Amino acid sequence: MRLMSCFLLVTLGVVPALLAEDSLQVFERRILPILNSKNASSCSECHLSGVDLKDYIRPSQTETFAALRAGGMIDVDHPDKSKLLEFIARSPAQPGLIKPEVRQAELDAFRAWIRAAVSDPKLLAAKTQLTVGPEVPDEVIRHARQDRVLQSFVDNIWLEVGRCAGCHSSDQNAEQVKKHGEQMSWIKPGNPAATLAHLREYELLDVKQPEKSLLLAKPTLQVKHGGGQKMVLGDRSYQQFHAFVQDYAASVNGQYQSTKDLPQESPIVVAVTDSWLKITDIPHQFASLILRAEAYPARGNGWAETPLVIGDRAIAGDRHLWQQHMSLSVDRGSEVARKLASQPKNDRRIPSGKYLLKIWVATEKEFAANQVYEKGQVFETTVNAQWASGYGSMTVVPFPQKKR
Ligand code: HEC
Ligand code: HEC
Repeated sequence: MRLMSCFLLVTLGVVPALLAEDSLQVFERRILPILNSKNASSCSECHLSGVDLKDYIRPSQTETFAALRAGGMIDVDHPDKSKLLEFIARSPAQPGLIKPEVRQAELDAFRAWIRAAVSDPKLLAAKTQLTVGPEVPDEVIRHARQDRVLQSFVDNIWLEVGRCAGCHSSDQNAEQVKKHGEQMSWIKPGNPAATLAHLREYELLDVKQPEKSLLLAKPTLQVKHGGGQKMVLGDRSYQQFHAFVQDYAASVNGQYQSTKDLPQESPIVVAVTDSWLKITDIPHQFASLILRAEAYPARGNGWAETPLVIGDRAIAGDRHLWQQHMSLSVDRGSEVARKLASQPKNDRRIPSGKYLLKIWVATEKEFAANQVYEKGQVFETTVNAQWASGYGSMTVVPFPQKKR
């Protein structure tokens, strides 16, 4: 019956005039439900927090329209070119959490409403004191943007995740998976975005209790870990993992309100390599301590001011031994840093040559409290390092006698 009458109206050409809703109907039927919905809007696909489509809607149509217009979000002369529609239409190259239909529905609703609203003289004349849009400054919005967060994941975790890859990367861990199951493969080779998504989905990254995230708790043995101790509280890799997890949770939870809440970005980027340093003949009294090694390349007649090669790890107890795959430490934003990010661990090379090797030994507590440099004991020596790749061809140095 309805179909029939529709058909009749269409053939008579009267459908648009008769069926077109006025703007208030559209607002109530299609816009208000977005405001009242518990679900995330399409913005959340690129903005972890800081902005949401709901920020642009007020319970009253008149105020919403007047505020959007005053805020430059509605173009009354070219309604389809309104900035708000541009915001909604933005979609990521690889769709993630949000179904395309959700975005399309938002877009259709706002387009229909804006089109209807701009031809309503009462709305055009309306004024309001209210404002719409995000309540946090642009820096905060920027900080919580997915692409920025992913970059931070790459800098802080992805570049060091090679430490875990042997057991957790799906291209290297067939044996581990056979023994322990598919959940072992949380590293997706060559794909930091998919890795981050997995960590989030399987709650290895716990945004409610970031401190308890298994990503931190397992490798530090705060909870039992099949791979044993892979980091100590306070070592460099841990600090990076920890900083990211905290920052990620704060972004997801919308905890940043002003620019001064945002964490400082470290000026360096650290990337694990497949070059190992082995320190032998470690005195017995250091058996239970943590060791930090830093290698400074030769510069002019002396040594560079900052280390190029770094590594932290527990001393292997009574074996008088310390060995670790070392990381390159380079300036953030430099060409080298960009290159490292796209290279697998095995392709990252440390230049061979003469280095000043500084060694700190400190307790785990001193590491955790970030007091290695103040409280640790320091030793140094020089070394002609090959930095060859692979566990089988380590650079070997006896523990230096000389205390600095
Ligand atoms: C596909 C990813 C993506 C989606 C989806 C997205 N944005 Fe953005 N947004 C960005 C990027 C990238 C920037 C910064 C660069 C730019 O402004 O072009 C940005 C910047 C912003 C800004 C900062 C100020 C400005 O004028 O640029 C606001 C506000 C904003 N978006 C609001 C929204 C709202 C509201 C939604 C949902 C309706 C949304 N965005 C959806 C990617 C996205
Ligand atoms: C020598 C192998 C090995 C290495 C290297 C290793 N792990 Fe593991 N990991 C395991 C095993 C085995 C399990 C499964 C048993 C368990 O849950 O403890 C596991 C489980 C995990 C889990 C729980 C996964 C899940 O979904 O249940 C996390 C998180 C984890 N490891 C983090 C790390 C991090 C971070 C690193 C690197 C810093 C690392 N692991 C390095 C062997 C390893």
